[in-house]
Amino acid sequence: MAQALGNLRRTCRCGEVTEAMIGQEVTLMGWVAKCRNKGGIAFVDLRDRSGIMQVIFEGEGQDAGSLRSEDCIAVTGTVAKRGGAVNENLRTGALEIIGKELVVLSESLTPPFHVRDDIDTREELRLRYRYLDLRRSSLTRKIMLRSRLVQLVRDFLSGESFLDIETPDLIGSTPEGARDYLVPSRVHPGCFYALPQSPQLFKQLLMCSGFDRYYQIARCFRDEDLRADRQPEFTQIDMELSFVGQDDVMDVNTRLLEYVLSRLAPIYDDLEFPKVLSEAAGKAAERIRANGIPKMTWQEAMDRYGSDKPDLRFGMEIAEVSETVRGFAFPVFANALAEGGFVRGLNVKGQGGMPRKKIDKLVETAKTYGAKGLPYIAIGADGTRKCSFAKFVSEEELDALIAAMGGENGDLLLFAADSFKVVCAALGALRLSLGEQLGLYDKNELCFLWVTDFPLLEWSEEEQRFTAMHHPFTMPNLEDWDKIDTDPGAVRALAYDIVLNGVELGGGSVRIHIDTVQEKMLEVIGFSKEQAEAQFGFLLTAFKYGVPPHAGLAYGLDRMAMILTGSDSIRDVIAFPKVKDASDLMIDAPSAVDKKQLDELHIAVVEEKTEE
Ligand code: AMO
Ligand code: AMP
Repeated sequence: MAQALGNLRRTCRCGEVTEAMIGQEVTLMGWVAKCRNKGGIAFVDLRDRSGIMQVIFEGEGQDAGSLRSEDCIAVTGTVAKRGGAVNENLRTGALEIIGKELVVLSESLTPPFHVRDDIDTREELRLRYRYLDLRRSSLTRKIMLRSRLVQLVRDFLSGESFLDIETPDLIGSTPEGARDYLVPSRVHPGCFYALPQSPQLFKQLLMCSGFDRYYQIARCFRDEDLRADRQPEFTQIDMELSFVGQDDVMDVNTRLLEYVLSRLAPIYDDLEFPKVLSEAAGKAAERIRANGIPKMTWQEAMDRYGSDKPDLRFGMEIAEVSETVRGFAFPVFANALAEGGFVRGLNVKGQGGMPRKKIDKLVETAKTYGAKGLPYIAIGADGTRKCSFAKFVSEEELDALIAAMGGENGDLLLFAADSFKVVCAALGALRLSLGEQLGLYDKNELCFLWVTDFPLLEWSEEEQRFTAMHHPFTMPNLEDWDKIDTDPGAVRALAYDIVLNGVELGGGSVRIHIDTVQEKMLEVIGFSKEQAEAQFGFLLTAFKYGVPPHAGLAYGLDRMAMILTGSDSIRDVIAFPKVKDASDLMIDAPSAVDKKQLDELHIAVVEEKTEE
């Protein structure tokens, strides 16, 4: 029977009981993780967010024996040294509570799965009962670390005179390039709000208002396909600064990262995260203090790693061999070069003996990234060579190509011959996959990188026009501005990303504050004056009243928390995440609504006709 709390009050949490408290009386409250009854003595493992404490009830220890897992209880008792064996795995493993009083606050049904870290229950079931899932200490600790992380970010930013300002969620479309989530208006029939894909436009308006340093832990909504590092609603650490250039934004954010990383160690310890994480954070902070965060241009990142978010925890860089193979009779190489493409390769050191089946898998990977094949040379330990295009090349040509690749006995050389885009995508993906497969890096190392000089525009095959690579308010590098009509694809932007271990952690840009540049930009990406006016006329108007030069950046907080907690998915650091089809299994959303509600919103649902 559940009992009221009455005057009973908790004195501390389970994990806060220390040896210094031996002999003291404490009252703990939490959930029954385990209960065993041994010869009239009941052993109860009591769990709260801080950990587990063993409580024993002897003699009259009565009802304790009938407690069930996940019952919510209060226990009053005396702290003592453990009578039995010390549990090395628990912080409180050398202590126990000699229980005096037990109050069952509420009883639990048999839970659908054991609330333990070592379970292999389907994620679907765990998400349906997410509130129970979150009682598992591995998840509890991740959510707690996320909270502490946000606090550190807030501390730093407010110390740097950033103001925390909220921006609205019921707005119009924001140009971040994903689909909007729409909210129908009851008062304006047929009209819709859009939820923010980011606070981009509003933070720029705040700069027009003169706040000059803004930040927000902002909720963003994007209707896009989900992946391990993508959710339809996610959180940004969003900021904007006035009277600054790109270097200022990168500088304050480099210091922000150093500040956070150098203060994580005690938090990791407090939350009992593995030592490797706190060591990795400490080392990364030290490297940033000594050398800052390395910078690489977009072009260099693409050329060397085939990616605009290179994972620098290992080498295996892409080699450019177009000039070496010019003139080879191998049609794959010749055709790629004739079409203005490239021939580039990866030297997979020491893998010349890779079995054919594994190589075939690599070919498949390359194909999923648009390559039509994967020519290779496998060099045996004794120097014998297996070349998949041997019939097209002479021994001398092969020698030259191997030399250009730095190939040695025992190496496997993989090639891509195609457009710049396909060559980068295929080799970039192979590099990542091989790096992981061959264990080429320390998973816990934290490698930060600034990627700069992104192209301003991106050609959209689908729309047959240029689109903004970051967003339409990104400032071009004015050194390239004379090419905007003749070679728009070659204009660089003052846009930058912060990359961590091959993940795009954040991105930002300097914004356009010069009206003629903004007009031209909108024209190039195909916005008519009327369209621009309709979509963000308010911003363009605001800019006519003395807009300051400004720039900003936003981090994906979920991604940051994911990496810093050593998680494989952002779902682990989001209390109530959504699954792949964007539904919430626990609350069963999205769901149908009743007709009355639809009528009020002036919405009619049209049944899709199924074809007979
Ligand atoms: P961007 O679109 O690059 O920039 O977003 C910034 C960061 O947000 C994270 N992110 C996501 N995280 C989880 N799920 C998603 N679906 C998702 N989409 C993005 C990424 C990304 O780097 N307004 C600009 C910022 C600016 O220019 O100041 C913006 O939103 O980590
Ligand atoms: P083949 O002449 O079909 O035996 O191919 C020789 C090598 O070139 C193999 O390693 C193929 O994977 C590769 N290859 C064949 N066609 C293409 C292509 N269109 N693009 C890239 N590589 C190719």
